Amino acid sequence: MGELSSTKVLMNGRFVDWNDANVHVTTHAFLYGTGVFDGIRGYYNKERKQMFIVRLGDHVKRLLTNMRLLRLNLNITADELTKEIIELVRLNDFREDVYIRPAIYFGPGSVGLNPAGHGTEYLVFATPFGKYLDTENGISACVSSWRRITDGMLPPRGKIMGAYVNSVLAKQEAVAGGYDEAILLTKDNFVCEGSGENIFLVRDGQLITPPVYADILEGITRASIIKLAGDLKYEVIERLIGRTELCIADEVFFCGTGAEVTPVTSINGRLINNGKIGPITKELHDKYFKIVRGNESRYLDWLTPIY
Ligand SMILES: Cc1ncc(COP(=O)(O)O)c(C=O)c1O
Repeated sequence: MGELSSTKVLMNGRFVDWNDANVHVTTHAFLYGTGVFDGIRGYYNKERKQMFIVRLGDHVKRLLTNMRLLRLNLNITADELTKEIIELVRLNDFREDVYIRPAIYFGPGSVGLNPAGHGTEYLVFATPFGKYLDTENGISACVSSWRRITDGMLPPRGKIMGAYVNSVLAKQEAVAGGYDEAILLTKDNFVCEGSGENIFLVRDGQLITPPVYADILEGITRASIIKLAGDLKYEVIERLIGRTELCIADEVFFCGTGAEVTPVTSINGRLINNGKIGPITKELHDKYFKIVRGNESRYLDWLTPIY
């Protein structure tokens, strides 16, 4: 696996080589998707020779809280897991942007749906990671023919492994159709989110985003954007968004750990803002990237320096 083979992975509290970081075929999470995970980014600031992990405490908290949904029970505190994640990044001595993936899941055992007899396992891996979507030029999106799963069916707020098949179906369909990303609607046809990112619309200078009860993932970047926009004196409204508002919005953008702040310049072939990145999106985008690289003193408490 080239360079990655020398990377260490954390498995159940032990650092193992990348090539030895395997799970057993009877792992309940492999058979049924019964685990929770999170996605975290670290940004390397070359001038300061420093790695900043973004909102690490919030990601760890969300991950540990989500265990409750699946009745997972791991004997680890937020402090302990946080320290282990920091140690993993340090140990691998990454000097470029990274993506960090912790997961907590039901481990090996006998076949059967009840995971009660399966132990709870956890792992964290980190890998160099550049752009997930084109944050600089903007992307095309389509409204997916797949509907978002609902809270009473398979809770999207849980970041449950198996729930991501819903996102994969939408992403595959979008890419097969020549689009960069999918926008999923809720079962009631309101705008929900992208396959792996939250969505914001700009209308008449106001930011609008679906509320947490609209079957979205409660995104940490979404919370950052809401705070940032408020600090910049924009009004942010959390409300249900009709599908046709996508056609008349002044600006649309996605946000997420992977997606960062990604302008959407067309939806189903209809240009947004004449296909150009809108001014409010641009302002938030630029500010976001300054913040995550540690170049905005006001938001330094969002960052955990590693070295
Ligand atoms: C479905 C979905 N929505 C939104 C997000 C954005 O969440 P966050 O900003 O916490 O990364 C993600 C994950 O990145 C996601 O998988």
